[in-house]
Amino acid sequence: MKNNIKKIAVLTSGGDAPGMNAAIRSVVRSCAFYKIECVGVYRGYQGMIEGDFKQMDARSVGNIINKGGTILKSARSDEFRTKEGRLKAFHQLKMEGVDAFVVIGGDGSFTGAMIFNEEYDFPVIGIPGTIDNDIYGTNYTLGYDTALNTVVEVIDKIRDTASSHNRLFFVEVMGRDVGHIALNAGVGAGAEEILIPEENIGVDRLIESLRKSKKSGKSSSIVVIAEGDKTGKNVFELAEYVEEHFPFYEVRVSVLGHMQRGGSPSCFDRVLASRMGVKAVETLLEGKSNLMVGVTDNKMLLTELDKAIKGKSKINKELLRVSDIMTI
Ligand code: F6P
Repeated sequence: MKNNIKKIAVLTSGGDAPGMNAAIRSVVRSCAFYKIECVGVYRGYQGMIEGDFKQMDARSVGNIINKGGTILKSARSDEFRTKEGRLKAFHQLKMEGVDAFVVIGGDGSFTGAMIFNEEYDFPVIGIPGTIDNDIYGTNYTLGYDTALNTVVEVIDKIRDTASSHNRLFFVEVMGRDVGHIALNAGVGAGAEEILIPEENIGVDRLIESLRKSKKSGKSSSIVVIAEGDKTGKNVFELAEYVEEHFPFYEVRVSVLGHMQRGGSPSCFDRVLASRMGVKAVETLLEGKSNLMVGVTDNKMLLTELDKAIKGKSKINKELLRVSDIMTI
């Protein structure tokens, strides 16, 4: 491979996601494999600005493939959004002798990388790491599969208590502005209704659907709601509204929150992270930059960061139909 890269930095940025450690391990070991140096940057772009670096070798990433969170820590840096902040980061990278970096994060992290690349012609590659699966150019982001499994496991538990008490549960899941987690976990956990931002069914249809399910003999139900849904009511207001229409139903709300970001990564996320780390390093060594590594139809593909940020990841509408049929 032809290039001038002798030292690569790796950082995790934005919200953490299971599989980030596996991706760090893959980047570090790929560097070792190609006999180039690797440094870890602590606390994302903020650590880059402050020169919080640590030399890493193949042995420094032992026993982390199975760990949730990120050993490098993560942060959302306001300072890196400023020209002055990015200049400080550039000086730190130069002082450390870093020639390129790999950032593991979401679209906010990629925007920072793209601007930095424009300003300093500095080689950068992105690895999509977020439980939201909201990045264009990849079928899967790191952490999404693990988060889905976590949500399904928790809803299974909620189902036990829901059916014991004949209750209706509203379960709010993460996903920011998209409904991937809600839709897939909703189908996987057998939810009665799934509310996602991409397909606003409206409160009336929800009432109608719950009425039908009650009539058909169901005594308990689970409704999965994406945090970004567009009904115009938050999950507690929705629950209250539904309770007014169904006084015979006891309604409870469960907001799953940050537990969805934790835990040991699934095998799928570990394999994906390993593949993405190798591809990221090899892409830099081929002299390419400003790209995101993704997986489409099980093939490793590259997408310009600009497109990855601006493009829309689409939900699988077929799942809405499947869900409707399953809840007959
Ligand atoms: O992007 C990941 C995510 O967990 C979203 O699903 C959620 O909306 C957001 O981050 C929460 O952010 P924070 O950890 O800053 O509260």
